[in-house]
Amino acid sequence: MNESQEMVKLTINNIPIEVPKGTKIMQAAQTIGIDIPHLCYHEDQRIKAHCRLCSVEVTGKKRLLAACSTEVWEGMDVHTDTQIVRDTQVSILQLMLANHHKDCLSCPRNQNCDLQRLCSRFNILESHLPSVVKEEPRIETNPSIVRDPSKCIRCGRCIRACKDVQGIAALTYAGRSSDIVVTTAFNKPMEATDCILCGQCSLVCPTGAIVEKDDTQKVLDALQDNTKHVIVQVAPSVRVALGDAFGLEPGAIVTGQMVTALKLLGFDKVFDTNFGADLTIMEEGHEFLHRLNNDGVLPMMTSCSPGWVNYMEKHFPSCIDHLSSAKSPMSMFGAIAKTYYAQQAGLKPQEIVTVSIMPCTAKKFEAARPEMGRDGYQDVDIVLTTRELIKLIKYVGLSIGKLPENDFDSPLGLASGAGAIFGATGGVMEAALRTVYEKVTGKTLEKVEFMDVRGFDGIKEATIHLPGRDVRIAVAHTLKNARKIMEQVKKGTSPYDFIEIMACPGGCIGGGGQPIGTTNAIRKQRIAALYEIDRTLPIRKSHENPDIQTLYQDFLGEPLSERAHELLHTHYHKVDKPYQFD
Ligand code: SF4
Ligand code: SF4
Ligand code: SF4
Ligand code: FES
Repeated sequence: MNESQEMVKLTINNIPIEVPKGTKIMQAAQTIGIDIPHLCYHEDQRIKAHCRLCSVEVTGKKRLLAACSTEVWEGMDVHTDTQIVRDTQVSILQLMLANHHKDCLSCPRNQNCDLQRLCSRFNILESHLPSVVKEEPRIETNPSIVRDPSKCIRCGRCIRACKDVQGIAALTYAGRSSDIVVTTAFNKPMEATDCILCGQCSLVCPTGAIVEKDDTQKVLDALQDNTKHVIVQVAPSVRVALGDAFGLEPGAIVTGQMVTALKLLGFDKVFDTNFGADLTIMEEGHEFLHRLNNDGVLPMMTSCSPGWVNYMEKHFPSCIDHLSSAKSPMSMFGAIAKTYYAQQAGLKPQEIVTVSIMPCTAKKFEAARPEMGRDGYQDVDIVLTTRELIKLIKYVGLSIGKLPENDFDSPLGLASGAGAIFGATGGVMEAALRTVYEKVTGKTLEKVEFMDVRGFDGIKEATIHLPGRDVRIAVAHTLKNARKIMEQVKKGTSPYDFIEIMACPGGCIGGGGQPIGTTNAIRKQRIAALYEIDRTLPIRKSHENPDIQTLYQDFLGEPLSERAHELLHTHYHKVDKPYQFD
């Protein structure tokens, strides 16, 4: 707290407190352990004050005030649990329930739903009002996101996430008064709008109205099929987020316990997407050097975030040549698993099922792209979000914090620290610079941390001094920030040579498939955990990973070789009509 900050004295439920001027009643109450119920409020969003569930009584005021939007004042006397406050809150919840499809048992957000939790808190066991719920089907037209309008409480959180964080505004209010709904323009399927399937709306939705497409049953079926060899890869950001759902501190590192859980679930091999990240650095780093030395298209832009790639294809198609052709770590891993690993294991690609655990709903879409496979099979067969993995782990009754630790399997399980930091904004750039610097200078990089690209700023810039050339780089997270950079690229005025963009706030650690309850404060704790993993690993540069070196010696040849191009690179294109999904 700033010492010179003006303080305000007030009482809440007769408890005297002192808080900085400008504090809202809701936060003031939190300082003394009082949780005022709320639904439209989210700590990372602009205040909306729509739902009025946070209504409180303030002495001298005729009407109840919204605790989320009302600043405290000197001498204020607040009461959060009087009869009128309780009656108001119960009435609001009852009205919501009257307009709500109450099939909690079959709802994806069962046991993880703010509306359900608040009804339980207020001992609302059934709704007393006649149901006015409009029967509307779930909208499941794409591989990533499912909408269920009958579960929407019109809190507006999804609208704010899409507009204020991503700058896209694919979701909006439509209609008036009691007919107001949250929908897309002309009520089109999300994939037919400007939506890039990032899932940030699903992360903030307090109910089951926007959720990820559930593919857990597909994985359970594959695990039961004795004719299939089922392998799993796990993204770097999952191991620092999974613990949240099991009561561990945000940012808890549960790598070894997560491997154990996956082995207990029955996967034949448990591998690491970080290995794919090291491979991506090999290809992307060499692609950058090739462009730099051969008057290629610059700035080159990273392409491992599928939400960002979708954004580029839909919103800046004229700039697609700036995207690196290197596939994402997930898809590179899948391609190597179905070729190199299949050879080693004596299996046909069709006998292998590749499952990916990702922080991201857009990864489900990436895996389904026709470009991500060959000879009639996909690089990655099934993508689960972190949330779906949590569901599976709970399904078999495991508690992550108590499991013994295990190591990833070989040979696609060994990764460098550079691979680990891919999950944080700036991580791909830092990992690439560690390799690019050594390739260009031929010298050992002693200090591997590039602090200029770390941190939570929306756009970070730096200049890297290489022999004969200064390389100007930029790092951006969220598409609202990306747009600022893209306007320059489109106009041809970009000052940069190499740009990293991640669609989600904080990078993958804040992805749209991460545990419900993710906030920016939690994102920062996860980023710190990834840097801690990197700091403690013996190998911190992708090109020093011995299993990556063996892969090139025995199978791929050189980075950017013909075989590397065939398996590890792809192309992107303008999206002028909606994708069609089965
Ligand atoms: S959204 Fe919540 S309250 Fe509604 S059905 Fe699902 S779990 Fe129940
Ligand atoms: S998935 Fe992303 S882009 Fe699409 S509506 Fe949700 S927040 Fe907006
Ligand atoms: S979809 Fe979810 S986040 Fe959006 S308004 Fe409805 S309940 Fe709120
Ligand atoms: S939480 Fe305050 S009005 Fe909705």
